[in-house]
Amino acid sequence: MIVTIDGPAGAGKSTVARLLAEKLGFDFLDTGAMYRCVALQGIRQEVDLSDEDKLAEIARTLVLEFDGAIVLLGGEDVTAEIRTPEITSLIHYAADNLQVREAMVSLQRKLALEDDVVTEGRDQGTVAFPEAECKIFLSASAEERARRRVEQMRQSGEDASIEEVLEQQNLRDQQDEAREVGGLKAADDALHVITDGMRPFEVVEHLERLVRLRR
Ligand code: C5P
Repeated sequence: MIVTIDGPAGAGKSTVARLLAEKLGFDFLDTGAMYRCVALQGIRQEVDLSDEDKLAEIARTLVLEFDGAIVLLGGEDVTAEIRTPEITSLIHYAADNLQVREAMVSLQRKLALEDDVVTEGRDQGTVAFPEAECKIFLSASAEERARRRVEQMRQSGEDASIEEVLEQQNLRDQQDEAREVGGLKAADDALHVITDGMRPFEVVEHLERLVRLRR
């Protein structure tokens, strides 16, 4: 069975999708991490990220593995490195590149071939797995998402204002929504879940019920 979870940045998708996969005993696919690895590898190889063919070649030859929450690029743990603000600000080069998207979607389908999977991203229910048995579109208001992000940053010793985070988040939402192929969009048959005021475990319980209804 394939469960897709799409939605905007900061909706808590990763945490919730990972916990849901654990509860269901499914594999978990973090597709944002895949685009982040393409951008990181591009920087490491010092390619011009706007050179579409060169970045696509990197995407096609990426040696990527997931070990639980750990992301391995060519065997090296890059879990923290792919989440730096630098990578986040450059990710659009990978996400806007149609050849990169094609390579990523084909890798996602390959990884999901044999097992039950919870897969999380922007285009999982629309492009990668249009036949998925259960599609969720997970969102929260922009203010709530920004508040959560600031809280998360404070816990790891970083300081940022809600206004700053909201501005960056709005920019990323616009870029993700405007993308013609693979843009942020709910599938017609997706179930919309708005998580304002809900704790992560409550969201997971709610999603688990939705999935079990479709099994
Ligand atoms: O989910 P995460 O914030 O790690 O995703 C990083 C970026 O990768 C997103 O802002 C989006 O531009 C891109 N992405 C995408 N398609 C996906 C997953 C992520 O374009 N399926």
